[in-house]
Amino acid sequence: MKGVILAGGKGTRLLPLTSIVNKHLLPVGQYPMILYGIERLRQAGVTEIMLVIGTQSAGLYTELLGSGSRYGVEITYRIQEEAGGIAEALMLAKGFFKPQERFIVLLGDNLFTDDLLPVMQRYQQQQPGSARILLKEVEDARRYGVPVFHSDNPHKIERIEEKPEHPQSSFCVTGIYLYDTSVFEIIQQINPSARGELEITDVNNRYAAANRLEYDILQGYWGDAGTFESLSEAGLHMVNRQI
Ligand code: DAU
Repeated sequence: MKGVILAGGKGTRLLPLTSIVNKHLLPVGQYPMILYGIERLRQAGVTEIMLVIGTQSAGLYTELLGSGSRYGVEITYRIQEEAGGIAEALMLAKGFFKPQERFIVLLGDNLFTDDLLPVMQRYQQQQPGSARILLKEVEDARRYGVPVFHSDNPHKIERIEEKPEHPQSSFCVTGIYLYDTSVFEIIQQINPSARGELEITDVNNRYAAANRLEYDILQGYWGDAGTFESLSEAGLHMVNRQI
């Protein structure tokens, strides 16, 4: 499988750090944040990676990563001109895939320790036109997308609520998604949200409504490094990890 890492966006919750450098190049443990996602993909055998970045710090990415060969991967870059949302950033990867191809998507600020290979293998067993997401139990789900499980079948996700005030479960939807090229048709059908972005949650809700959304639960550490607290916490968890 090929992989996509989405590292656009503005990182406004990390200002003023992100006024001089893009969020995904900030230090986490011994490395710039972006390297952890690349390492998780490579470790699972995903070596063809599309990296979507914004215009900020674009030269620093190529300085750090080059072609990707020094990290055992092959990187294709695409630029997202404006932070129009996660689904908009994903749309830029369309030409990277053959019709019906399956792939894995990571948000560049998600840091985690689980092995992705078993998840990818389970996704390969799913029907074409379906999706798989990864959940993690968290203390305060209000910051995230939160799954609402079917009342008569707790193994099925009925829908996902984005940053709900009153979360209906203690799980969050992490930024690890598996799709095939059907996702690009869905993105073309959704409209910008109230905050003016094409939301990945709206995309996943289309799969849920069609009963084509499955999930796994991450067992190891997971965090998104989008706030000062979560960035510091991620640094502590990752400080001894070698890439
Ligand atoms: O981390 C998990 C959460 O990520 C999920 O629980 C939410 O459902 C999902 O919407 C997302 O929420 P955030 O509010 O944390 O997303 P954020 O805007 O911080 O963007 C996360 C990453 O997505 C960011 O590190 C880079 C990428 N991104 C984001 C935007 C808005 C892009 O590549 N382009 C964009 O335009």
